[in-house]
Amino acid sequence: MQTQRLRIAIQKKGRLSKECQTLLKRCGVKFNMVGERLVVHAENMPIDLLLVRDDDIPGLIMDGVVDLGVIGENELEEVSLERQARGEPSDYKKLRRLDFGGCRLSIAIDKDAEYNGPQDLNGKRIATTYPQLVKRYMDDLGVKFSTCMLNGSVEVAPRAGLADAICDLVSTGATLEANGLKEAEVILRSKAVLIQSTETLDDEKQALIERLLTRMQGVIQAKE
Ligand code: PRP
Ligand code: ZN
Ligand code: MG
Repeated sequence: MQTQRLRIAIQKKGRLSKECQTLLKRCGVKFNMVGERLVVHAENMPIDLLLVRDDDIPGLIMDGVVDLGVIGENELEEVSLERQARGEPSDYKKLRRLDFGGCRLSIAIDKDAEYNGPQDLNGKRIATTYPQLVKRYMDDLGVKFSTCMLNGSVEVAPRAGLADAICDLVSTGATLEANGLKEAEVILRSKAVLIQSTETLDDEKQALIERLLTRMQGVIQAKE
């Protein structure tokens, strides 16, 4: 079901939302975020912004429900692996890597525990929101482990006796520090990316995307 207007999915609230809105504004897209609206119409271009949970953005692109999306590579990779495992559509086009949302996905353990390498994780239970990425990393190393799937409060799992280690996003390191944990392995370095669905769009929409990309290039270069 294609609409006349270009649909861009962005995170409603969280680590990418502010910078994502700023980037779009700098690219000349005029809009007003009011209340709890799910769809916000741009005032000066045929663009609709969809404000959703970041977890939903990869799927919306892969199912061709929206045209563009801004998402962290960590979430994008996790959903892509999960969909591949289920035999669901997992294709997308990466248009460009953005200059925000930088973080790493890391395995962390008790700060006082001895650590000499991945073999020390053998047989451990790892709490995470990213089971697919953890599995890919550990399988590549041939290290056996089990998971404890948590969508939030991952960092408290070891202290709560739910897991031996965690695998979660780290940016400043403050969360690990506050929970008596230390980074053991970095499994992915992530940034925000702009992605497009693989559906063929009509010429006007595709031209609008090209125009946005050109402006984005200018905006990002001006900051460097
Ligand atoms: C992530 C992650 C940690 C925190 C790490 O959570 O789950 O809690 O950021 O950042 P730091 O190293 O700067 O402390 P996020 O803020 O994305 O929210 P969520 O856990 O509610 O998804
Ligand atoms: Zn999320
Ligand atoms: Mg968190």
